Order: sequence, then C-alpha cells, then structure tokens
Amino acid sequence: MAAGRSAERHPAGRMPTGKEPYYLASGDEVQVFEQCHARNLAVMLKGPTGSGKTRFVEHMAWRLKRPLVTVSCHDDLTASDLVGRFLIRHDGTVWQDGPLTRSAREGAICYLDEVVEARQDTIVVLHPLTDHRRMLPIDRTGEVIDAAPGFQLVISYNPGYQRMLKDLKPSTRQRFVALDFDFPPAERETLIIEREAGADHATAHALVSLGHRLRALRDRGLAEVPSTRLLIAAARLTASGIPVRKACYAALVSPLSDDASLVGAMRDLVDATFV
Ligand SMILES: Nc1ncnc2c1ncn2[C@@H]1O[C@H](COP(=O)(O)OP(=O)(O)OP(=O)(O)O)[C@@H](O)[C@H]1O
Ligand SMILES: [Mg+2]
Repeated sequence: MAAGRSAERHPAGRMPTGKEPYYLASGDEVQVFEQCHARNLAVMLKGPTGSGKTRFVEHMAWRLKRPLVTVSCHDDLTASDLVGRFLIRHDGTVWQDGPLTRSAREGAICYLDEVVEARQDTIVVLHPLTDHRRMLPIDRTGEVIDAAPGFQLVISYNPGYQRMLKDLKPSTRQRFVALDFDFPPAERETLIIEREAGADHATAHALVSLGHRLRALRDRGLAEVPSTRLLIAAARLTASGIPVRKACYAALVSPLSDDASLVGAMRDLVDATFV
C-alpha cells in the first residue's frame, strides 16, 4: 500500500560517519548552502537528472555533520507519509513519526527528492517549517514540534521535465533559496568521470567531448540528453574491459532514445569520437 512506503524506504536519518562523499563544486554552491544552513533557510536544488543534486546534499550533510533523511516523492505520497501515523498493535495504538517529523526532532537535513511529484496538499505541510516559525503542527496528536537546531529542508526538482501539469505553487517556491545545477564545464566533468569511474584521463576527456556532441542533438529532437551519470556509466564499462564503442552504445546511446534515426546519429558520433 502507498501509506508508509517512503518511511520504509528511508527508515532513519543517517549520521554521516563514513568518508566524504566526493563532490566537485562548479561555483560557490557549497558556501551558499553553508550560509543557508547557518541562517535557517530552506534550499531548492534545480537541475537536470544526473547533474549532482543528490551527491551535493550527501556531501553537505557530511560537511555539516548532520544526519540526512531522504524521501523520494511520488504522486501518492500523503501528508501522513511525511508527518507520521498511528499504528495499531496488539497492545494498543502507537504513534510513529514520519521522516519529516523525525528530521525536525533530530535536527537532520530532510531531502525531498523530485518534490513536484507530490500533491499540493502534501507539500503544504512543509510550509510552517520553512519560515521563521520552524515548527511542525501534528494535527493527529495535537503536538507542535519546534525544529531542533540543524534541521534544514532541502527539495530538488528537474525543471522542464513533464512540467506541463505539475509545478510548485508560488507560495511554496518563495520559501526556498534556489541553487541551479547543470552539467559541469568540460574540464571538471572530465575530473569527475576519472574519479568516479576510475577512468584514464584520455578516455574521460573523449567521453566528455562525445557528451557535448550528443547534448547538441537536443536541437534535432533528442528529448533526453546524456547526463554526467551516463558518461560515468560508459566510463565504468570501459574501465572494466568492455571496448569503448560498445560501452557507449550500451550505456549512452540506447538509454537515451528508441528512435532509429536518433540512435543512428548518436552511434555515428560515438564512432567518430572513438575511431
Ligand atoms: N559535481 C559532482 N561531483 C561529483 N560527482 C558528481 C558531480 N556531478 C555528478 N556527479 C556524479 O554523477 C552521478 C549522478 O549525480 P546525482 O545522482 O547527484 O544526480 P541528480 O542531480 O541527483 O539526478 P536525479 O535528478 O536523477 O536524481 C553521481 O552519482 C556522481 O557520480
Ligand atoms: Mg537525485
């Protein structure tokens, strides 16, 4: 059933104890986020798929030494999934906090991924946590929680992606500081691919220039262009011994389109890059 799905997927805030999640900054996003955290400002990360939004939040939680609670939003996510619900047990009824409530109590960073997928009546429960009140009223129990120090709300979304029907209301948007994400400049993307895939510099560099050529196909009707994530996947396959052209067909070309002429054009670019 839909109820509790997200809570099950994200059972507890994880304190970032392990090694630093690798994140290569493109600008001053780390400093801006740190200032938002210190000043109790909620943050919205906007950018295409695979552009580093999730990695950035993981990195910032580690840097700020805060637990991170992630919720993947979907259209049947309810306010109760976020806030909590009464559970019926053999010995009575017990209240169970949802991930938002737990984050507010623990002073965690609560990251709502693809927030526009959630319905408006779910999203409005975030509002009192995002302004000076920093509180969460729980209607079902009558409790009002003051968010603990360190609590921060972060949402992400992918502008332009099926956005005809769904968008955030102005009253939600205007509660967040927005950080824009995009694919990094070539030399940075090359470094990321080397690091994430264990690829050599020449291969990473060639994949990045292929990526740029493929992204230019957007003008010819390619709806989804390759993200850093896909370039990393191609680099990983190559590093594991798969011939680079095959790796590109499988990891870059096929996932992006089913259209025969676009697939043909992409394969030609692969062949021209790795002769
Ligand atoms: N600036 C960066 N520094 C380090 N790694 C990066 C960076 N940008 C992208 N990556 C790599 O690309 C992968 C995809 O990034 P990530 O999962 O953060 O994308 P996303 O923006 O959250 O995408 P989606 O919208 O699909 O959730 C990461 O796992 C990481 O390997
Ligand atoms: Mg993500």
